[in-house]
Amino acid sequence: MLDLRHRFPAVTEGEHAAWARFDGPAGTQVVDSAIHATSAWQRSGNNANSHGAFAAARACDDLVDRVKATMGELLTADPYGFVVGPSTTSNIFSITRAIGRDLRPGDEIICTTLDHDSNVSPWLLLAEDTGATVRFANFDPANGRLSVDAVSSLLTDRTRWVAVTGASNAIGTMPDITAITAAAHDAGAKVVVDGVHLTPHAPVDIQAIGCDVYSTSSYKWYGPHAGITWIERGLLDSLHAYKVRPAPDTGPERFQLGTPSYESLAAIEAAARFLLDTGVAAIQEHERARFSRLLDGLLADDRVTVYGPHDLEQRAPTLAFNVAGFDAASTAAALAEQQIAVWDGHYYALEAMDTLGIDGAVRAGIALYLTDDDVDRLVSAVASL
Ligand SMILES: Cc1ncc(COP(=O)(O)O)c(C=O)c1O
Repeated sequence: MLDLRHRFPAVTEGEHAAWARFDGPAGTQVVDSAIHATSAWQRSGNNANSHGAFAAARACDDLVDRVKATMGELLTADPYGFVVGPSTTSNIFSITRAIGRDLRPGDEIICTTLDHDSNVSPWLLLAEDTGATVRFANFDPANGRLSVDAVSSLLTDRTRWVAVTGASNAIGTMPDITAITAAAHDAGAKVVVDGVHLTPHAPVDIQAIGCDVYSTSSYKWYGPHAGITWIERGLLDSLHAYKVRPAPDTGPERFQLGTPSYESLAAIEAAARFLLDTGVAAIQEHERARFSRLLDGLLADDRVTVYGPHDLEQRAPTLAFNVAGFDAASTAAALAEQQIAVWDGHYYALEAMDTLGIDGAVRAGIALYLTDDDVDRLVSAVASL
């Protein structure tokens, strides 16, 4: 069992230490080394800009290179392809805007009902601009699973792109993105994987998945607010980016609009290093034990409806639930009275809520710093409502 709670000052010090933080799917607390890296960078005198002739400018270049190398190690991917921007949503909008320059009326895009809106709306808007059509692959509301067949049955010779999540930020299920990518490639389509909810909870090997674009956000894995998106080298160099004229004509910098946040890059490197040193497989195993206790506790309560699967297979340690007689907002407010932080509503998983036939639900997610006591507090607070 991992014992890393002491690495998170936000849950051990100060006024929030008394809280049980189940709000990790909306953003985790920050690991000490990432907090330190931000301030160390800003104190260092290295804060300059890339591609200059002096030492601090070279330190900026080195930092960018180190972040790409570390992300490549974390996600088993070619370091060349990493674009760092303010958020995954912002990065996906930039990429889809460039993709749109090559789409034609009648081209097809497949989205899914399991996805966060950051991997849906950019495609819907793109379709509006280009005359392409978006088709939705549906997950099964009975078990929360998106099958490979649900996607592959929609593939046609007009399908250009498939946009699919690596893990649902609402109910935690993890579609088989490797098989979905293979099916899409067989049909001549490219694949964008939203890995925001997957990355903190399972080892990721982009090379093995084979997808063309993969996005993650470091504030979901103990780092700063930023989006890190990997684009396959050939695709990256062939996309017609919207960019300023002095930016290079190939490579990731065309998608990095303006000067990067070097202080965030320093913290991304530290947070990614923390995941690598801890081992994402070890994190997954640790979280599974806490999550199993949470799932069992809530399933044992007759008044609680847990949406999505009632098992631990192929899922992130995140669940959505409602309590009979309470709407999600009232449940969340009552839990907050007891210093338990959960999210409520749709968390931008709009089609998922429609498919489940609900307006919203309470969401609780396991993060590395949560304990069995935190889980027991949540389960008994729900029982006491
Ligand atoms: C699955 C998933 N995708 C995308 C996003 C959007 O990420 P960002 O805030 O970096 O745009 C989130 C944020 O909650 C998410 O959970």
